[in-house]
Amino acid sequence: MNTGNADLIRIIRAKIEQHGPVSFAWFMQQALYHPEYGYYSSGRCAIGRKGDYFTNVSVGPLVGQLLAAQFSEIWECLGKMNDFVIVEQGAHDGRFALDVLESVQKRLPEFFDALRYRIVEPFPILQRRQRQMLEPFRHKLDWRSSLQPFTGVHFSNELLDAMPVRLISDGTEKLVGLNGDKFVFIERPVNKTMFNQAALEFIDEITANLQRGYVIAIDYGFLDDGFERTVEVRAQHRHLDSPFERIGDADITMRVDWRSIIERARANGLRLVGFTDQHHFLTGIISQLAIGDLVDQSLSSDSRKAKRELQTLLHPEMLGRAFQVLGLTKNIDPGAQPLSGFKFAPGAALRR
Ligand SMILES: C[S@@+](CC[C@H](N)C(=O)[O-])C[C@H]1O[C@@H](n2cnc3c(N)ncnc32)[C@H](O)[C@@H]1O
Repeated sequence: MNTGNADLIRIIRAKIEQHGPVSFAWFMQQALYHPEYGYYSSGRCAIGRKGDYFTNVSVGPLVGQLLAAQFSEIWECLGKMNDFVIVEQGAHDGRFALDVLESVQKRLPEFFDALRYRIVEPFPILQRRQRQMLEPFRHKLDWRSSLQPFTGVHFSNELLDAMPVRLISDGTEKLVGLNGDKFVFIERPVNKTMFNQAALEFIDEITANLQRGYVIAIDYGFLDDGFERTVEVRAQHRHLDSPFERIGDADITMRVDWRSIIERARANGLRLVGFTDQHHFLTGIISQLAIGDLVDQSLSSDSRKAKRELQTLLHPEMLGRAFQVLGLTKNIDPGAQPLSGFKFAPGAALRR
């Protein structure tokens, strides 16, 4: 049954009635990003315990604190330049930015003086929420609706998995059509084409705008070609059976095909400097960078919450293995010291 936002359902149905079946990418674009009714663009998306799903960021401030240390190491690698920019895309309510800025201000004052934080946010309602959340740091921040040239680091957590995809496998594409009133999948033969075009174009955009620096992307995905590509639909911490349930009120994601992202980045001239799971990435940061005070606090017996946070982020059966971290560079000396986050990265799978 089609359920969800009635206006959005009407718009999608009218398009199919007029033009015939549409790609799943178009359907997903409407469901998540239709300017008025999309799940994200309307501001309906809620993350965390009372929302639809958890992310690293909603677990607590620790991931921002650890990444702050990693960004500082990148800043050092770029010669401690002034006007170093942290660009975040997919910032939701600005929580990660707040956690990073609070941590840098408290623990890394020299870096704090040198940095700017830029949020790329196309949706006005989310931008308003971010401005509210980040009011104490307004002099450090700027907003853009799309990527602009920058030097520094581009960061994203669960951005790539939210980009529209086509459902293509073995020469067949699943399109979205109608059976009476109901949305249904209709299979059509298709010539070889990329299923994740939006994510690949995003890599092109980063390549065009990063003048010098790093890209750190955290997401959940796969490296093997044989992985079955199915979309996941989530609302109120439940997995729904179909993307045609709760249209515009539910999150839709697809695991990231890391190999195609890496191939596109390399073809564009970006250099792969690391790929590992979140467990190894965060353990590398904790072991290498001067953040003992943070982790000591997490492990001390009077800080149960922080300890649980650390465990959730690191444990292989929680988020530690489900998420992977990709590191890319542009115009950075290949002899530069490897980032702490990738110190324990098993790299062999990607040299092929
Ligand atoms: C799964 S949420 C992740 C939110 C947040 N990073 C976190 O980890 O809690 C994906 C976010 O990416 C945003 N997004 C999708 N495409 C975007 C784009 N082209 N530019 C900026 N944000 C985008 C969505 O609006 C949404 O806020």
